[in-house]
Amino acid sequence: MEAIRLFDTHAHLLDGRFDEDREALISGLPARGVACVLEAACEAADIPRVIALCERHPGLVYGAAGIHPHSASEFTGETLAQIESALAHPAIRAVGEIGLDYHYDFSPREAQKACFDAQLALAGRRGRPVVIHDREAHGDCLDLLRAHRDGLQGVMHCFSGSYEMARACLDLGLYLGIGGSLTFKNAKKLLETVQKAPRDRLLLETDCPYMTPEPFRGRRNDPSLARLTLARLAALRGEDEAALAAALYENGLRLFGIAAG
Ligand code: NI
Repeated sequence: MEAIRLFDTHAHLLDGRFDEDREALISGLPARGVACVLEAACEAADIPRVIALCERHPGLVYGAAGIHPHSASEFTGETLAQIESALAHPAIRAVGEIGLDYHYDFSPREAQKACFDAQLALAGRRGRPVVIHDREAHGDCLDLLRAHRDGLQGVMHCFSGSYEMARACLDLGLYLGIGGSLTFKNAKKLLETVQKAPRDRLLLETDCPYMTPEPFRGRRNDPSLARLTLARLAALRGEDEAALAAALYENGLRLFGIAAG
């Protein structure tokens, strides 16, 4: 096997589904081609755990600190201060994951918007990228992103939309995070998107333990399975897998401000 280095730019390795084998799995990732992982926080209680995970795996695991829209109703000024102080840690590279989720609506929409808005403002103030979750909320999501477009940097995590939506995000300077859904049979719109999108704006991700690529859909996902998404992406774009992997790896380092290891 040729030496391929992947950067999984969106993982949830702190999920309970990794409790039995988390440390061994992460330590084994470099041997399975994964050289870098960005762990995304979802709620305030995750933030110290993300920092501790990064400290246990220096140079391999980096983190994002933020409040997911599902937890927006617990967001306070104190939470914002906690995220800001987490950004002082050298391994915490981004604000995330943040955004809007109108599919589940676990928090009221007004609370989701206020939480997203405050975190976008923080990221802008601190010059940090954001990791964005947008589920069935494109209109409001774009409105808020446009309101913060000055200095905006970030990734539309688990992007699965049309090229029109992709174009709006690319025009804001954002990257598109491509995960296991690319391998699903119903990914028609996304196929066109990934064929047209510029290579220097694509990122590879897993969203593990969720979004497991085919043919393992339904099982637990982990960063090493990003290889399956990479293979599909390379085939769709008619590109060499190793060259594409190298480009996506560089994209991740660039966006998250990580020095090449
Ligand atoms: Ni996620």
